[in-house]
Parts: sequence; C-alpha cells; structure tokens
Amino acid sequence: MKKLNEMVALITGGSKGIGYGIAASLLKEGVNVAITSRGQDAADQAVQELSTIGPGKVIGIAADVRSFESQQQAVAKTLEAFGRLDILVANAGVGHFADIRSLTPEQWHETIDTNLTGVFYSLKASMEALIDAQGYFISIASLAGTNFFATASAYNASKFGLVGFTQAVMLDLREAGIKCTTIMPGSVASHFNNHEPNAGDAWKIQPEDLGQMVVDLLRMHPRTLPSKIEVRPSQTAKK
Ligand SMILES: NC(=O)c1ccc[n+]([C@@H]2O[C@H](COP(=O)([O-])OP(=O)(O)OC[C@H]3O[C@@H](n4cnc5c(N)ncnc54)[C@H](OP(=O)(O)O)[C@@H]3O)[C@@H](O)[C@H]2O)c1
Repeated sequence: MKKLNEMVALITGGSKGIGYGIAASLLKEGVNVAITSRGQDAADQAVQELSTIGPGKVIGIAADVRSFESQQQAVAKTLEAFGRLDILVANAGVGHFADIRSLTPEQWHETIDTNLTGVFYSLKASMEALIDAQGYFISIASLAGTNFFATASAYNASKFGLVGFTQAVMLDLREAGIKCTTIMPGSVASHFNNHEPNAGDAWKIQPEDLGQMVVDLLRMHPRTLPSKIEVRPSQTAKK
C-alpha cells in the first residue's frame, strides 16, 4: 500500500472552506498538495498559512475549473512541482439559490459550469497522471445531490449530476486501479454562498472533519471502496 507521505494531491478550490481544510489534513500526513483558486492572490494567501503546517509541501495555482485549458495547466504545474499526481479532490463549487422564476441564465450556467462541468474538466485533465499513479478521485458533492429543496434547482441539478457522474466514472475506472468516491456533506462551516464563518457555526461539520474523512479514505485497504458517503452534523442547529 502506498504511504501518504509519498503521495501528491491536487485540490480544486483550496483557498478557503472545505478545500482548505482537506489541504491542511493532507499536509499534516506528509502529502504534497497543490491548491487552486480563481485568483493567484487568494491562492498565495492560503499557501502562506498552509505552508506553516507541514511536513507536506504546498503550492498555489490560479486556475478556473470552468476552463479545460486552465485545468490542464494546473495539472502540468502540479507535475512540474511534485513529479506525480495521486489524488484529485474536485471540491471547487458555488451556489446560487433563487426561485426558478428569478434564477437567471447566468446563475444557472455559473452553477453547472463550476460544480459539474468543472469536475469533468479537472478529472479529464488529471486522467493520465491518475492512471500512472493508480490514484484516487474524490468529488465533493452535497446532500443536495440526493435531497431537493425550493430555490435550489440549479444547485440540486449540479449536485445530483455530480453524484451520478462520480458513480459512473467509478465503474469506468475501478478495474484500472483508480478509486472514486463522492462525499456528500450537509451543513459545513465554510464561506459557501458568501457566508462568514462565526461562533454560531459550531454545530456544523467543520472543514477539518472532512479532511479527516479524506485521510481515512486514503488509508482504507485497497480492496475496499466507500464509493458514496453521506455526512451530516450529528445535531441540528441550536436555536
Ligand atoms: N458549505 C457547505 O455547507 C457545503 C455542503 C455541501 C457541499 N458543499 C460543497 O463543498 C464545496 C466547497 O465549498 P465550501 O463550502 O468550502 O465553499 P467556500 O468556502 O465558498 O469555498 C469554495 C472554494 O471554491 C473555489 N472556487 C469557486 N469557484 C471556482 C472556480 N470556478 N474555479 C476554481 N475554484 C473555484 C473558491 O476559490 P476562490 O474564491 O478563491 O476562487 C474556494 O476555494 C463546493 O463544491 C460546495 O458545493 C458545501
């Protein structure tokens, strides 16, 4: 079994929130990590903080998941820095929540292009390297990939789609030695949808809890594959 401190991960959207938490957990285990953000400044700021964690090394790349070319460049920079790619965490995501009567085509496209097509692009760009490394593809979907609710037509469509996508590629790739898991969290204390994390978020899943989950998945015996994981806060919001 490969050791964690011999692995390299690429995390899309690692500048804050869940992606940042997963990066921190992997770095503590000695994984070398590349994070991406839409902006180089946000990536650099996160790298400055993450680089104090170690022993893994971290780099930050400006790359928009909505562009296939940008994802190809992110993979190339990861390979240039660390020489291999074992783990792709397709995490970058956005949410627009509006009644279908007011949801705009721009909001629809940003949601689908980021949360669904963006995952396809990042996996497609990583495919060769993941095959070489007999690697692991983890997508961060949502409980909104199985539970629908009002105002979430675009978000539900993107996350239902992402769960189906990840399960189908899992069947395509498992005989090639590549593991695929979709993690479907409920409420997480992050910056999602312009939220500012605060003390009232203590009941929510914390990003580092999902980081621990990713580490546990990587430590799972190679013969066993948790392919779809629902995860929720153990208690509801405190009133
Ligand atoms: N928070 C929750 O309750 C929750 C629950 C279930 C699932 N999720 C899912 O978890 C994932 C992470 O969200 P989060 O909660 O951590 O939100 P967040 O704190 O807002 O972080 C989102 C991350 O995605 C990046 N990002 C957004 N659009 C991007 C693009 N086009 N290209 C590259 N990076 C992009 C952001 O980077 P920049 O802004 O720096 O570009 C940021 O690093 C999303 O897929 C979300 O749907 C969240």
